[in-house]
Amino acid sequence: MSIRPTTKDLLLNAFAGESMAHMRYLVFADVAEREGYLNVSRLFKAIAFAEFIHARNHYDRLKNYREESKVASGTPAGPGDTSKNLELGIMGEEYEVNEMYPAYIEVARFQGEKSAELSFKWAYEAEKIHAQLYREAKTHVDRKSDWPLKGRVWICPICGHTYVGEEPPEKCPICNAPKDKYISF
Ligand SMILES: [Fe+2]
Ligand SMILES: [Fe+2]
Repeated sequence: MSIRPTTKDLLLNAFAGESMAHMRYLVFADVAEREGYLNVSRLFKAIAFAEFIHARNHYDRLKNYREESKVASGTPAGPGDTSKNLELGIMGEEYEVNEMYPAYIEVARFQGEKSAELSFKWAYEAEKIHAQLYREAKTHVDRKSDWPLKGRVWICPICGHTYVGEEPPEKCPICNAPKDKYISF
């Protein structure tokens, strides 16, 4: 079954955006490690994995898609120090939460593309948490101290849900995956 063209374009765009976010956060993790912010580095790596999950989910919806296309996905700026990188992370996540995914979800729903709608929704829910975690980490880095991580950063490999604590939740609050699915960083 082929996918409606507009939803398909949004899936491609979301796939590109998540792919770039994944790579950008891995670069930011390296910078944070060099600067001695080991927990912030771990946070970037965990969230990079969540963005991989989102990219994979969006890409998966394009299963039967075969045509030549070019996708451009912008990035707000090149990398800086960890404080700047967290700011870029916050900007990117807030864009996804406030602009991109709410609109994408509506279009997919309007076009009756339920599977794409779900993929966008899962990403939307996780990005809200990412924005919040980056904001928290930035308040510490701006005082030249590492983000105080108690426990580990847990990622749901189905939907990208991100959770900080000693143990993951019993069930993923976004997709209902059981606790033992979670991957920790
Ligand atoms: Fe995110
Ligand atoms: Fe999940």
